[in-house]
Amino acid sequence: MATQIRPTLADPELPAGVLAEMERLNDEAAPLNIWLRTQANATMHPPWHRPDLPEPPRPGRALPCLWRWADYEPYLHRIAAIAPLEFTERQQFLLTNPGFGGALKVTNSIRVAVSIYKPGDFAETHRHTPNASRTILSDEGGYTTVEGERCAACRGDLILTPNGTWHGHGNDSDAPVIWIDVLDWPLLEFLDAIWIDHDWNASGDNSALPGEGLSRRLYGHGGIMPRSGRAPRGDGVGNSPMFHYRGADIRAALDDVRDLDGPEWDAVSIDFTNPQTGAAPFTTLGYSAMLLRPGEVTAESRSTAGTFFTVIAGEGHTEIEGRRLSWQENDLFVVPNHAWHRHVNARADGDAVLYAVSDRPLLENIGHYRRQARDAQGRVVSVEA
Ligand SMILES: [Fe+2]
Repeated sequence: MATQIRPTLADPELPAGVLAEMERLNDEAAPLNIWLRTQANATMHPPWHRPDLPEPPRPGRALPCLWRWADYEPYLHRIAAIAPLEFTERQQFLLTNPGFGGALKVTNSIRVAVSIYKPGDFAETHRHTPNASRTILSDEGGYTTVEGERCAACRGDLILTPNGTWHGHGNDSDAPVIWIDVLDWPLLEFLDAIWIDHDWNASGDNSALPGEGLSRRLYGHGGIMPRSGRAPRGDGVGNSPMFHYRGADIRAALDDVRDLDGPEWDAVSIDFTNPQTGAAPFTTLGYSAMLLRPGEVTAESRSTAGTFFTVIAGEGHTEIEGRRLSWQENDLFVVPNHAWHRHVNARADGDAVLYAVSDRPLLENIGHYRRQARDAQGRVVSVEA
């Protein structure tokens, strides 16, 4: 029986034997592919506007989780030493959230892999329905090619491969490169909407490729939108035509607004957008970057979206419903949906920078994104939705 169903037979008024009789009917009716309701729906969460009520234990729910660079990085080199890239077409491991019993996802909708590409490694061009991105941890060396645009990978870059875009990866430098792959794979899997196409050569004329830097040429000038070059990039729907968000630009954008007032639960935050629409880069996943100034502690907040964080700089901790996840550079962690949390920059002499990916756009698109924060008096207030 699904875990969201709870029995109601604790009611002493129920006549003895009712459940047994109903289950006998269920056994009889099973070949007809019907189920005679013998249990009530259990509430997965307390009502959103009753945050005073405790969360019931829920098997299968995402848990707060931390993956430390010091722990996971050696495994990248170990798998790279054992198996050629051809072994599984990737040298990577996938992150699992202990709340999901080994399923390959870190939140309900997000899959994360950590990849290493050795010098000379090359992953063939392909396309698929899941949206995907790369967050680059290495200083430089690798690249991703998307719809012919070659995106040289530098630390802190975000490189998107929206659904339906032809893309490939490689490393033509003399040192290994490491990056974080994020995909909405679990969502597409749930919807049974995944396909992968490897037949790049059959897709037509590939001779007129735009080369390096098209994202920057088209969309690298804030507030200026060219009329040229607006042809669809890939055959996906509703996703960003800008594929490469450079780490240096992201950091500069954060620094430019670090002295401006903003929501105290978000520290200094910027959102990545589809420059043609202002919407999130993907219809399913949204991306943002947060700068925590020295010693900064955010206000507590929670939302209906699950969020995966990559620590780009600094050290600190995130408190999630009584748990403290202490993080430093290149660590990865999850704040589950509905979980109250706040971020803390532990250093008095340096910034911390976190990149966040969440399924907020998906929830917004289906009318279920909500967020709350606690104000200075500890009162719960609705924000953003
Ligand atoms: Fe891919």
